[in-house]
Amino acid sequence: MSESKVAVITGAASGIGRASAHKFAKEGYRVAIMDLNESIRDVGEELRDSGHTCYDFVGDVANEADVSAFIAETEKRYGRIDVLNCNAGIVVVKPLEDTTFEEFSKVAAVNIGGTFLCHKYVLPVMKKQRKGSIVNLGSVSGHVGQTEHAVYGATKGAVISFTRAVAWELAGYNIRVNSVSPGSVDTPMLRSDIQLESTRTGIPFEEVKKLREAEQAFNRWADPSEIAEAIYFLASDSASFVTGSDLLVDCGWVAK
Ligand SMILES: NC(=O)c1ccc[n+]([C@@H]2O[C@H](COP(=O)([O-])OP(=O)(O)OC[C@H]3O[C@@H](n4cnc5c(N)ncnc54)[C@H](O)[C@@H]3O)[C@@H](O)[C@H]2O)c1
Repeated sequence: MSESKVAVITGAASGIGRASAHKFAKEGYRVAIMDLNESIRDVGEELRDSGHTCYDFVGDVANEADVSAFIAETEKRYGRIDVLNCNAGIVVVKPLEDTTFEEFSKVAAVNIGGTFLCHKYVLPVMKKQRKGSIVNLGSVSGHVGQTEHAVYGATKGAVISFTRAVAWELAGYNIRVNSVSPGSVDTPMLRSDIQLESTRTGIPFEEVKKLREAEQAFNRWADPSEIAEAIYFLASDSASFVTGSDLLVDCGWVAK
């Protein structure tokens, strides 16, 4: 058991991060999970109750002291880090001129800043091992122009280009770095996004939902577990020749 691999997953209290924590645990990984939301403790308990090894940490990915403490404790407990999955993210959906600089700064600090900080503290561990795999969260918003998502889309575009550059920087250490870009995934983040659009436009929630489902070729949103499968594939040795890639898991949205 002490030999089993270790996956670090941020934003694991909810949505895709939570599904990812369950997937890695089910595949035999010891998982270290972090979230700003205290319900990360419940996810930790859930996993431990099912017999998995899990360390949970309440903290902010945009706070250097939190990230540093979380990674140091993970290394102390488990002795290695095989996978980093940077899931934690937030969205702002607003006309650009109504968006404040504080909102811009916060979304940038969490989405690209948090991704940067997690790499910064995990890389020394992976470099020592001369092996590791990192999966970041992009988005279709980093690929296509989405109305009222300019700031969010810019941070996701940044994550995708950051991923490419870091992949080259780390190739010599046998560390692969990729991203996944989901389409619409049924999580609290997407539902709050739809609610905001509904409130602003006066179009009922269910109608906005239908319009947003139609952006996917199968006319539905993804379940978070469907994104976790793609994250797991990229993280695993099955993707041994994949680095610097962004995998669209968007049910054809960008292909249209
Ligand atoms: N849901 C979608 O349709 C969708 C589509 C494309 C990309 N994504 C991306 O997937 C990732 C996960 O999103 P989700 O839909 O599961 O959202 P979610 O809101 O369900 O989960 C995100 C989690 O991140 C946590 N978090 C937020 N800020 C944090 C911080 N500063 N420090 C630590 N944790 C923090 C939240 O508390 C939450 O538990 C995000 O990066 C998001 O941008 C989501």
